[in-house]
Amino acid sequence: MSEALIILAAGRGSRMQSDLPKVLHKVAGAPLITHCLLAARALDPERTVVVTGHGADMVQAELADEDGIAFALQAEQLGTAHAVLQARDALAGFDGNVTVLYGDTPFIGADTLQAMQAARATADVVVLGFEAADPARYGRLVTQGDDLLRIVEYKDANEDERAITLCNSGVLSAQGTLLFDLLANVGCDNAAGEYYLPDIIAIARARGLRVGFVRCAEAETLGVNSRADLAAAEAAFQARARAELLDQGVTMTAPDTVFLSFDTVIGRDCVIEPNVIFGPGATVESGAHIRAFSHIEGAHVSDGAVVGPYARLRPGAELAAGVHIGNFVEVKNAILDEGVKANHLAYIGDAQIGARSNIGAGTITCNYDGFLKHKTTIGADAFIGSNTMLVAPVTLGAGVTTGSGSVITQDVPDDALALGRARQENKPGLARKLRDMLRAKKEQMKKGA
Ligand code: UD1
Ligand code: CA
Repeated sequence: MSEALIILAAGRGSRMQSDLPKVLHKVAGAPLITHCLLAARALDPERTVVVTGHGADMVQAELADEDGIAFALQAEQLGTAHAVLQARDALAGFDGNVTVLYGDTPFIGADTLQAMQAARATADVVVLGFEAADPARYGRLVTQGDDLLRIVEYKDANEDERAITLCNSGVLSAQGTLLFDLLANVGCDNAAGEYYLPDIIAIARARGLRVGFVRCAEAETLGVNSRADLAAAEAAFQARARAELLDQGVTMTAPDTVFLSFDTVIGRDCVIEPNVIFGPGATVESGAHIRAFSHIEGAHVSDGAVVGPYARLRPGAELAAGVHIGNFVEVKNAILDEGVKANHLAYIGDAQIGARSNIGAGTITCNYDGFLKHKTTIGADAFIGSNTMLVAPVTLGAGVTTGSGSVITQDVPDDALALGRARQENKPGLARKLRDMLRAKKEQMKKGA
């Protein structure tokens, strides 16, 4: 059966106190709605409809690069059933299975979605429920054996129904044309005066249809309604991602201090020291060692490389095997071939550096002239003396040495020594003379005072 998704993302999220639509707030470097889309990949959806409302333009712009997403506007938020109905035109002609997800509920697991898909084999509608530690104001699942009879909203529930701890996650799945048919029959005669999506359950039952349910862990249904929820979601994500890496054979001496992005990849036998932060797009290959207080984003670190402490790898940093990047070294959009060493205090941006070259302390690629960025190319086995300024665009050949403190503005041929600094002059005895003069001056001033 082909699959489609409807993701509800119309809510303002007024408790967020934000100009940004709620679903665009980020956890682990990705918007909430992106987490939702990533999890839903497990269903291999043919079509995805995002129902937008507040901040529709911003949501649409954020997802512009994603393939196969259509948007439906819910101009007025009249309830979850009304929200799902807005997707009907976008799914015209689709006769497969439709799953409804929520853009502010980022952690539904791939295996849970697959379990719902499997349950559809014996049920016309499948609802995702969870045992709530504190059922609070969730809708309750009224069940009989494997059948779901109806869902009752907290506001509309009686005492017995409020005692039920099996709660509605909101996520459900049904054959598409059936779903829209059921929705067309939902009214708004309830405590909130809203069109409730869960009302389709009782309508389906009244027609003699089978309604099943699947349970998931409560953690998967964690929804974000406030900044405090957002922080809790971040903490939950980090805890799970760290535990996964430990299981996969990554050493972390203080895992609670390591922050990961939604897409961080770290290979087996890597060591990640305390207080390392990964931004989006970081990959660290097996056996690499990331030392304390490093910040790594959009970078690729190959096996056996050593980074940090206090290093910063920015987007486009590509470190080959065995590269050493030391303290207070920043690398951006630069390819460092095998065994390159930049151990202290350097900026390497828009550069290509050949194998085994050594970049001395204080070296800077002067890549920006205030208008354009320029490239620095260095061959293999070069030795860049401390405090060399490489004024790009500039190319240094293989085996080049630059004198410390040089300002390199012209290309350097292979194996040349490049010196670009004032020649040193020694004046014998002049230091002592200078001291005597200054001392005399200071004493004169004291007497005068
Ligand atoms: C809903 C369920 C409840 C369930 C709970 C789980 C209904 C009537 N109730 O309650 O059974 O236990 O979720 O969290 O569905 N939305 C729209 N347009 C609307 C209304 C809502 O897009 O017109 C979106 C919201 O942005 C939100 C989601 O749908 O992402 C749920 O809506 P919300 O109003 O939070 O429903 P709850 O009262 O929490
Ligand atoms: Ca809610």
